[in-house]
Amino acid sequence: MTAAVVAPTFVPVPAVPRTAPLGTVQNPLPLIIDSDPGLDDALAIGLAVARPELDLLAVTTVGGNADVRHCTTNALRLLDLYGASDVPVGEGSAGALFGEVVRATEIHGEAGIGSTVLPDASATARPEGAVDLIASILRSHPEPVAIAPIGPLTNIALLLRLHPHLGHRISHLCLMGGSVGEGNTTVSAEFNIYADPEAAAIVFESGIPITMMGLDVTHQAVLYPPASERLRGLGTRSGAVAAELADYALQREGQWYGTPRMSVHDAVAVAHLAIADLVDVAEYDVQVDTGSGPARGRTVCDGLPVRVDRKGRRMNAQVGIRIDRDRFEDVLVDAYSRLP
Ligand code: BDR
Ligand code: CA
Repeated sequence: MTAAVVAPTFVPVPAVPRTAPLGTVQNPLPLIIDSDPGLDDALAIGLAVARPELDLLAVTTVGGNADVRHCTTNALRLLDLYGASDVPVGEGSAGALFGEVVRATEIHGEAGIGSTVLPDASATARPEGAVDLIASILRSHPEPVAIAPIGPLTNIALLLRLHPHLGHRISHLCLMGGSVGEGNTTVSAEFNIYADPEAAAIVFESGIPITMMGLDVTHQAVLYPPASERLRGLGTRSGAVAAELADYALQREGQWYGTPRMSVHDAVAVAHLAIADLVDVAEYDVQVDTGSGPARGRTVCDGLPVRVDRKGRRMNAQVGIRIDRDRFEDVLVDAYSRLP
């Protein structure tokens, strides 16, 4: 582990030992993914299914990249594709706790997974819905369970409000969202936080151990066109679909940023739970701007201990600051080589 500086800040922030739990092949980490699939969500779910260090207990869905009904259909069909149709799916909130519904269909397409059409799934979503499905798993699982929220944080906030006594059954929240530096949906705010800032504020103030994989690190976790050829070259159905999703994202994100690229944001949060030293993290006090001005949805990240003390606050999250891009690509290709 080397000292690292988060580029957009002038305060040098050292990398610290991770606090997120780590699954092993001998002792896989019990994990729930809360997601809005979503092109990068789709790759993150595939990674979770493929890695033997992770025990995927459920996928819950939330309105975000696309309408929640599309996200649920996508989750069910993707799990089928990945040979994991036994993983239960629960549908969650259609939109934010307050305010308008925000979507990212200009990147992910109207149905959330670009122009890819997957066969119907054999399973259907669980009748109890996302929040009760998560609650019942937290209650009944012998160990505390990690959650990787990779969409807006609405379901997680509702869970914490409806079942506050279950917070201690969550071992860690390894979430994708936010940014120390600039945002993507607005210059201030990253999409998952912007889509429900009030929910994000509840989560960051919950006291549950959090790792935040924000844009500072997920924009380092990029694929370029040769990566989609590697995925296609695996010769599997899952690899072919992953390549198709990547091609769509390369093109859409390319229009946005100028060159073909796919930031596989959500897979960074999942990978951190399976691989000890892929992502460097630093300690921050993260507060969410819930105001109505131009910084709405911004994660205000303070990495300077003396300033955090002076505010009477404490470091409440580890934040991803660096990832080895080449290794991350290899991790994804390797994962898809293990899927049907
Ligand atoms: C996040 O927003 C969504 O569009 C992606 O799936 C990811 O979770 C990136 O800002
Ligand atoms: Ca997502």
